[in-house]
Amino acid sequence: MGEVDPAFIQALEHRPKLSTIEAQGIPVIDLSIFDSNESSNLSSIQPLKAGVEGRQRVNLVEEIGEACKNWGFFQVINHGVPLETREKFESAARKFFAQSTEEKRKVRRDEVNPQGYYDTELTKNVRDWKEVFDLTVKNPAVIPASYQPGDREVRESVNRWPEYPPEFREAFEEYATEMEKLSHKLLGLISLSLGLPENRLSGFFNDHISFIRLNHYPPCPIPHQALGVGRHKDGGALTVLAQDEVGGLEVKRKTDEEWVRVKPTPDAYIVNVGDIVQVWSNEKYESVEHRVTVNSERERFSIPFFFNPDHHVMVEPLEELTTEQNPPKYRAYNWGKFFATRRRSNFKKLDVENIQISHFKI
Ligand code: OGA
Ligand code: NI
Repeated sequence: MGEVDPAFIQALEHRPKLSTIEAQGIPVIDLSIFDSNESSNLSSIQPLKAGVEGRQRVNLVEEIGEACKNWGFFQVINHGVPLETREKFESAARKFFAQSTEEKRKVRRDEVNPQGYYDTELTKNVRDWKEVFDLTVKNPAVIPASYQPGDREVRESVNRWPEYPPEFREAFEEYATEMEKLSHKLLGLISLSLGLPENRLSGFFNDHISFIRLNHYPPCPIPHQALGVGRHKDGGALTVLAQDEVGGLEVKRKTDEEWVRVKPTPDAYIVNVGDIVQVWSNEKYESVEHRVTVNSERERFSIPFFFNPDHHVMVEPLEELTTEQNPPKYRAYNWGKFFATRRRSNFKKLDVENIQISHFKI
């Protein structure tokens, strides 16, 4: 990816001028009141530590609610994910990307199975300066066979495992387990912050189609004209991101629409609510735009975990959160079809507008 393809520069013309402000960052939330001695049942919500003063618990729920409402983004510390688990997986990811393109393309994705490796050349996506490796947390994962609304067929999507490094699979599985646990904690807190029972949303994730994306952003010779990832919103429920010390993630601040850089905090995870939480909460919490800048000197790695419900889930505003005065703002839509449509347009780089929740707006 060292040479700049003229098509790349041409494709950048629609890009907004890059301007970022350094500002007080997104909220940092301490999760240490959770019991660190967690149960092994992954799908159960981790109970808040017994004996913890109720006020501390209420404060945490309030903090989460404020962060979701005002920013759509926050960082968590003392989150219970062992640092070794993260380091082991990050190191495996770096080793994978350090291989030759030819080697990496042995696990390339294709139209039938979207799990795998791709670089900008493979997708003809000349807009983003990055290479990517996608893996689902459940393996196989059950996804719709097509994006066609009437087609009820489903199929199993399987991960492609690279030969190198040999510890890759184990490191992935350990990390994915931790991400799942953390995401359920966060989901419980978000539920509580909406005035709902802690486990109100967990039932949507029994057969979840969550996936982990390894992002590698190589140094870019034209950093002021390019982006690692253009402005976008995440389509799932929650995203839990590990970014390295280089930095580059920017979030659109709700108060004034300025792009604010998310300063790397060692061992923290960056959490954002996705489109599904926006719909469930009937827009009490909004999915916020973000983008990734690149630089000419240092490569950057990031690992988002996209926490997505089961494919058959119909996403719609939660009944408890709508009233006659506050009627539902969205029609129900099928999550699996939404996901399959996104995947397809991402693969084909279709010129048509990608599917958006605004298409279901009442
Ligand atoms: C994404 C994303 C941010 C980053 O992949 O959806 O927003 O810092 N990534 O890599
Ligand atoms: Ni994103």
